[in-house]
Amino acid sequence: MSLTHTEVPSTYPPSPEFAKNANATAELYREAEEDRLAFWAKQANRLSWETPFDEVLDWSQAPFAKWFVGGKLNVAYNCVDRHVEAGNGDRVAIRWEGEPVGESRSLTYSDLLAEVSRAANALTGLGVVAGDRVAIYMPMIPEAIVAMLACARLGAMHSVVFAGYSAPALGARIDDAKAKLVITTDGQYRRGKAVSLKEAVDEAVKASSSVEHVLVVRRTGIDVSWTDGRDLWWHDIVGNASPTHTPEAFDAEQPLFLLYTSGTTGAPKGIVHTSGGYLTQSSYTHFNVFDVKPETDVYWCTADIGWITGHTYIVYGPLSNGVTQVLYEGTPSSPDEHRHFEVIEKHGVTIYYTAPTLIRTFMKWGREIPDAHDLSSLRLLGTVGENINPEAWRWYADAIGANRTPIVDTWWQTETGSAMISPLPGVTATKPGSAMTPLPGISARVVDDHGNLVEPSPELGEHASGYLVLDKPWPSMLRGIWGDPERYKETYWSRFAEQGWYFAGDGARYDLDGNIWLLGRVDDVMNVSGHRISTAEVESALVGHSGVAEAAVVGATDDTTGQAIVAFVILMTHHADTPREQMIDELRAEVAREISPIARPREIHVVPELPKTRSGKIMRRLLRDVAEGRELGDTSTLLDPSVFEAIRASK
Ligand code: PRX
Repeated sequence: MSLTHTEVPSTYPPSPEFAKNANATAELYREAEEDRLAFWAKQANRLSWETPFDEVLDWSQAPFAKWFVGGKLNVAYNCVDRHVEAGNGDRVAIRWEGEPVGESRSLTYSDLLAEVSRAANALTGLGVVAGDRVAIYMPMIPEAIVAMLACARLGAMHSVVFAGYSAPALGARIDDAKAKLVITTDGQYRRGKAVSLKEAVDEAVKASSSVEHVLVVRRTGIDVSWTDGRDLWWHDIVGNASPTHTPEAFDAEQPLFLLYTSGTTGAPKGIVHTSGGYLTQSSYTHFNVFDVKPETDVYWCTADIGWITGHTYIVYGPLSNGVTQVLYEGTPSSPDEHRHFEVIEKHGVTIYYTAPTLIRTFMKWGREIPDAHDLSSLRLLGTVGENINPEAWRWYADAIGANRTPIVDTWWQTETGSAMISPLPGVTATKPGSAMTPLPGISARVVDDHGNLVEPSPELGEHASGYLVLDKPWPSMLRGIWGDPERYKETYWSRFAEQGWYFAGDGARYDLDGNIWLLGRVDDVMNVSGHRISTAEVESALVGHSGVAEAAVVGATDDTTGQAIVAFVILMTHHADTPREQMIDELRAEVAREISPIARPREIHVVPELPKTRSGKIMRRLLRDVAEGRELGDTSTLLDPSVFEAIRASK
């Protein structure tokens, strides 16, 4: 059949060749369907347990789950030692590419074992014991992974903070977790330039009562200020430690890490993940969704270790499966837009997992860029973090995958720990734009306010939408919010308390074939380039500026970043004479300083008034209409409908 330009396939089945060799077959769905808990027990037994578990799931204290009760394991042992013991010590674990072109390093599984052992010994020497929290604020270098695994090995929790966060944001996370140790670098490379990182740590820990030491990897060689007694060089402390270390097995529910994410309030929440369940599902999904063949694949996930994708699909999933992976330090445009494709070509990357926002950026840069490279090593592509629009999906399939590779669009969250809704690449005939169906062992549904299934019908079509809920517990589910069990129950479990379902915060719909299409957040969380940022966080940074009386922030659709931050502010009267442009520049800088450059608003509008209901609630829905240039929706509950004339006039 020949296709005209308007006729594009609506489904993309895997090639018979891919399906024949795939790790996962349709049998996996059947198995999970038949006996869900037995299925998860089998997946857990892909790992190495020092003490076998005697119960798969204890849900008696719902929503506080215990998985693999009674089992004991060491997470780092499972990610490193066992591969060496199996005779694969010479296999490369990490092929690292520095941001400066030409700088690269390889670490085999044996090297990784020695490094993680040294770091575990060093951390023990610094007094780190099981249950302690260690903050990690580092660029994408192998030591970051070593640091995470050293914590895991000791049963200490890491709290990785994205190195793009500012000092106040880092400080708030360190304080909330009461971290004892911070691991960082002197500096990091950003678009060819070495910039300080330790400075932010110095500022963040200035007032900390919990931090005893700051362990510093020398990455760039730039000058750093030093606090004797508190600050230590990694090469002294870790470099001189013994490369052998005997791992201790911990309970399956031993906390593994804390990862802060944005919620609907200004305060980020520390999502708690534990060991056995998290590693089971991370390893299982990595193996089946990415179809990894550890002997031959070169896998590359482009996320940062500061996000959950980096935790699960750079550290724990791939390493538990013993694969060879690329780790790249820089941005896709350093030194130019060819960088990712050069890395793929150089290393013969076979599996590439990235975010839709980057794919849309590639589209803008132009097809001639990937076309200039031999990308024929690629055999599977993946996306995560936000909806991928069908146009970008097809471009990805064609320009990067030469229409040979399946694409897995994986829906999940910091809270879910690992992938939940995704195609299985050797089984699913995918539809561009849909994450398709829950993975084997996972259960989800799309429901209305009352918990009734939202079902499309041939008569009504596919347009009915509802809320995505997870109606059965899963092994890598969050175990709570650090220090705040009430917030955990309230945020995720109160909306459908009667049914006992987890409310994901996403809107979704089914198509007539029963596939799930995600529709974005239904709460006040924005998704900017796949980064979760709460409107309240940005508002609080804005009102923290002495010139701002009130602020309202909304996420507006953006062609490249998915959503962009648009702020409306009312200025204090004493700032009425400050030039607008100057004030707006100052406010954008303030948000970058308080949170991160990733939270800097695309637009800030100075307005005389904000639209409020009679009860004083800001009507963000209407502000979104304004930000996206739409006709206003229902304004009947507005206290003063005329505010919009003033807002429009000031845009
Ligand atoms: O809205 C969904 C969106 O990202 C949110 C989770 O963000 P975070 O915890 O930062 O984790 C991102 C990486 C797992 C979700 O609530 N999201 C994530 N993946 C997809 C998605 N939206 C649509 N399709 C996806 N594949």
